[in-house]
Amino acid sequence: MCNLASEFETPLYIIDAHRVRQNCARLLDAFPAATIRYAIKAHSGQAVLKVIRDAGIDVECASAGEVKAALTAGFDGNRIQYTAVNPPARDLDAISKWWQEHEELTITVGAVDTVERLRERGFDGRLCIRVNPNVGAGHHEKVTTGANAKFGIPYERVPELATQWAAEFDLVGIHAHAGSGISGEDLSAHEELVRRMGTLTRTITERAGALEFVDVGGGFGVPYRPDDPPLDIYTVAEKTRDALGTVDATLVIEPGRYVVADAGVLLTRANTIKSARETTVVGVDAGMTTLLRPAMYDAYHEVKNISASPPTDSMLVTIAGPICESSDIFAKDRSIAAPTRGDIIAIGTAGAYGYEMASTYNARPRPAEVIYDNNTVTIARRRETRDELDILETSSEKNSLALSSIVSHSSAASEPTVSSSSPTDAPHGGESQ
Ligand code: LLP
Repeated sequence: MCNLASEFETPLYIIDAHRVRQNCARLLDAFPAATIRYAIKAHSGQAVLKVIRDAGIDVECASAGEVKAALTAGFDGNRIQYTAVNPPARDLDAISKWWQEHEELTITVGAVDTVERLRERGFDGRLCIRVNPNVGAGHHEKVTTGANAKFGIPYERVPELATQWAAEFDLVGIHAHAGSGISGEDLSAHEELVRRMGTLTRTITERAGALEFVDVGGGFGVPYRPDDPPLDIYTVAEKTRDALGTVDATLVIEPGRYVVADAGVLLTRANTIKSARETTVVGVDAGMTTLLRPAMYDAYHEVKNISASPPTDSMLVTIAGPICESSDIFAKDRSIAAPTRGDIIAIGTAGAYGYEMASTYNARPRPAEVIYDNNTVTIARRRETRDELDILETSSEKNSLALSSIVSHSSAASEPTVSSSSPTDAPHGGESQ
């Protein structure tokens, strides 16, 4: 890994394709009769998607961009489920267009408004209803989804809407997601969600006819700390099947993190070793813009000084990035082999929601990512350049409009569909239009 850091520079994400394959195989083995849809939001890189596609796992997409990534990676429409969460018009326009070419694509809706907006776009295809089961779980309040009013249609309203929509669309399934980071120590929330979904499936089958699937979401946790036990996925599978009961529909699960988290490591180079008042600060070149999880969820990621060769004394350190924010800290009071400037620090279990949540805050280009497979290392995402950060800036007078020439749309009842020639949607701020 130190050689990779020198070759490709830091910060650098490394993804082990073999581990992704192993995780897929374990899921397929534990859930032999289920359909597995990988939640692309955990990692949407093409190289990873192709490994998952070849493993026989389908995809769940949260945006038009993710559907595009899935289509580019060669997933057929019948392997793609798009989950619409307050979908922007731009997303619905793109999806309904792609649906014309890929009629097997499934759209999951979490609001009556979304159905209305799909109808306006001529959609009458495969529809799935996102249920708000009023049960949530997760590693942090910010990723607890199931009972959050933002998501889904309250489950008590679903049978009536299902009956109504079954007459108009190809109603294929129902869906719910409890939250992220479900732990093996307490599966009760997951089981309760699945039980409710089982009951709902039976009610809908009676009233509106059989569903093709019942999707109980993802959220399967992974060990982040060295002493966290790995989730026993076979037990999860058994408890899921038991809680679901007998249904005339295929079980669907949607894991994201479980597929990629432990396949990824982030490498970062120490540039500053500073004795502060209470601690030693190790300044590194990755920051919260490279891996947001510690700043956003106080998430724990293991850190190791992989440059130090034993026997090196260890010391307690705080590992901090280059972003001008107090939350830009990866680890506090952690024991690592005493670092010197230039050492490589490896941050573990960074394959899920790592690169994916990277940003360019503080005008910092996004990192590079390599995939390791079969003794070969391939650059999957090259490092963003500083020049690329300016690419959206426009200074041309052609892009200015007199305020008086902007027509008021405030009374328009229905949303305008967004065409690709919209001035704010065009490449280079419209200069090329
Ligand atoms: N299905 C749906 C509808 C979801 O919203 C999610 C995650 C998943 C599946 C996959 O959940 P997973 O198996 O990956 O836990 N950025 C946060 C996680 C946010 C997850 C949002 N939805 C983190 O870094 O922990």
